[in-house]
Amino acid sequence: MSGKVILRAKTLAAMAGVLVFTLAQAESPPVPLGAELLKPFKQQLMGALKAGLQEGPDQAIEACKVKAPEIAASLSLDGVEMGRTSHRLRNPDNAAPEWVKPVLHDYLDNEAEVHPVEVSAGEGRMGYVEPIRMQATPCLMCHGEVLAPAVAEKIAVLYPEDRATGFGDGDLRGVFWVSWPEG
Ligand code: HEC
Repeated sequence: MSGKVILRAKTLAAMAGVLVFTLAQAESPPVPLGAELLKPFKQQLMGALKAGLQEGPDQAIEACKVKAPEIAASLSLDGVEMGRTSHRLRNPDNAAPEWVKPVLHDYLDNEAEVHPVEVSAGEGRMGYVEPIRMQATPCLMCHGEVLAPAVAEKIAVLYPEDRATGFGDGDLRGVFWVSWPEG
């Protein structure tokens, strides 16, 4: 137990160290801890998507289904938890944690003006939420108004409750969220 706590503290300290180093170098505004924690999640998701797309949209859909939860789980260590969610879910397992719901609602109230926010995640935890917007390429291939028949079919088989099509370029698709123990 105490080993785990020390490890957690060390991880956070190491991340803070990276943060300070980055700051000293760039002299830009501070990068929030949440943004640092989400960086590998975003990179690895995009890597899995791109690798899948090289094999074709079918494989990419499979890759997203298998890899996305694996990546989130592999980075959710030492008290850190992260994930993706949306107001229009593809996978119901990606439902928003309670503390993320009000932020998502705020975002939807004024979609044009959304910014990352740091909020309390309850139970002694801090949280950070970042908007995800649709990009024409490659997102709309699997989330847009018109899908290739093979893509639509594959999604219908794997995600019978899918609500994540019909988006346009630049639309708010959902959010990345991360939470970690306070202090
Ligand atoms: C090859 C098809 C494909 C492409 C291209 C694609 N996605 Fe997805 N997306 C999926 C699948 C499949 C899931 C469900 C993954 C799972 O089971 O967790 C998903 C889930 C998501 C989720 C999680 C919330 C939910 O609805 O379950 C978000 C957010 C998301 N995609 C955003 C994007 C963005 C942004 C892009 C472009 C950078 C993109 N997607 C490109 C297939 C795709």
